[in-house]
Amino acid sequence: MFTKAPWWIRIPVLFFLVYGLMEYFIDSGVQPAIIKYPMTQVFMLLVLLLLIAIELILNAIETVMFKILSPEAQERYLAEKNKKSEWKWGKAMYAKLTRTKKIEEEGEIILDHNYDGIRELDNVLPPWWVYMFYATILFGLVYLVRFHITDDYTQAEEYDQQVAEAKIAIEEYKKTAKNLVDVNTVELLTDVSDLNAGKAIFTTNCVVCHMADGGGGIGPNLTDANWILGGGIKNVFNTISEGGRDGKGMVAWKQSLKPIEMAQVASYVLQFQGTTPANPKAPEGDVWVDPNAPEPVESGEEAPVEQVSDSTTVVMN
Ligand code: HEC
Repeated sequence: MFTKAPWWIRIPVLFFLVYGLMEYFIDSGVQPAIIKYPMTQVFMLLVLLLLIAIELILNAIETVMFKILSPEAQERYLAEKNKKSEWKWGKAMYAKLTRTKKIEEEGEIILDHNYDGIRELDNVLPPWWVYMFYATILFGLVYLVRFHITDDYTQAEEYDQQVAEAKIAIEEYKKTAKNLVDVNTVELLTDVSDLNAGKAIFTTNCVVCHMADGGGGIGPNLTDANWILGGGIKNVFNTISEGGRDGKGMVAWKQSLKPIEMAQVASYVLQFQGTTPANPKAPEGDVWVDPNAPEPVESGEEAPVEQVSDSTTVVMN
C-alpha cells in the first residue's frame, strides 16, 4: 500500500519519521535536539538528500524497465498503475459498523404504521453504537469490582499521591529555576556552593563598606544580633535588594545582582552571626527576634493565662 503513495507523500512521511526517531533517541533536555546540536541539522539535510536520491533512482529504474517491455506489456503495466487504489478494507469496515440500508432497499424495513402520511423505518441500532454501549457495561463492571468490592484505592489516596508527586515536581523545578526567588519565597541557602558564590559576591561588592569579616565600616556590623533593617533571610534579602534608608549609602542591589545572587550573598551575610570580627563596629538597631522561631518551652512553668474578653459581658460602672 505504501509504495502506491506518491513521492510527495513518501518523502515527507519518511523524513518526519526519521526526525521523530532522532528527537526521541537523542536526549537534549527541554530544547529540541535539532536546536541544541546543530550537527543534527546537517544529518537531517543528508537524510532529505538521500530520500530524494532514492526517489530519483527508483524513478529511473522504472523508466528503464518500462522501455524494455513489449508494447502490450507496457499497456498492461499502465492499466495496472492507473487502477484507482480503493481502500476496500476501510469501506467494508464502515459498512459493517453502520449497517445502513441503501435507499433502494428501504422498502424492506418500513413499518406498517402510517401517521398522517409519515412512515417509519425500522433501522437496526448502528453496531458502532452498540459496541460502545457494551464497552461501557464492561467498564462499569470492572469499575464496580475494582473500587467497590476490592477497594483498590480511594479518591483521597489518589489525591494525596498526586499532591506528593506535584511536590516532588515543584522541588525539581525549583532546582532548575533558582532565579525565581523573591522576597516572599527566599530561603536560607546552606549548600556550600551557594555560600561560596555568596562569599565571592560579598568580596567584590560589599567588603568596602562592611569589611571582609562583616565587622562594619561605612556600613553597619553584620555579625551582631542587632539589625537596623531587620534580620533573618527575608529582611536581609530585602535590604540587599531594595537598599537601606535614603542617604545612608546602602544602594539597592537588584539592578546589578540577580535574585539568586542576592539570595546567596544574603545567606552568606547571615553566616557572620555570632562571629567575632577584628574591628567590630558598635551595634546599631535592635536585637532581632525571628517571629517564626519556635517558642522555647520551659518545663515546670505554666503559660500565662490569657484574659478572655467576651463581647457579651457588660461592664458596669
Ligand atoms: C557604599 C557602602 C556599602 C556597600 C558597598 C554595601 N553596603 Fe550594605 N550597608 C551600608 C550602609 C550604610 C548600611 C546601613 C543602611 C541604613 O542604615 O539604612 C548598610 C546596610 C546593610 C545591611 C542591613 C544591616 C542592618 O543592620 O539592617 C545589609 C544586610 C547589608 N548592608 C548587606 C550588604 C551587602 C550584601 C552588600 C554587597 C552586595 C552591601 N551591603 C554593600 C553600606 C554599604
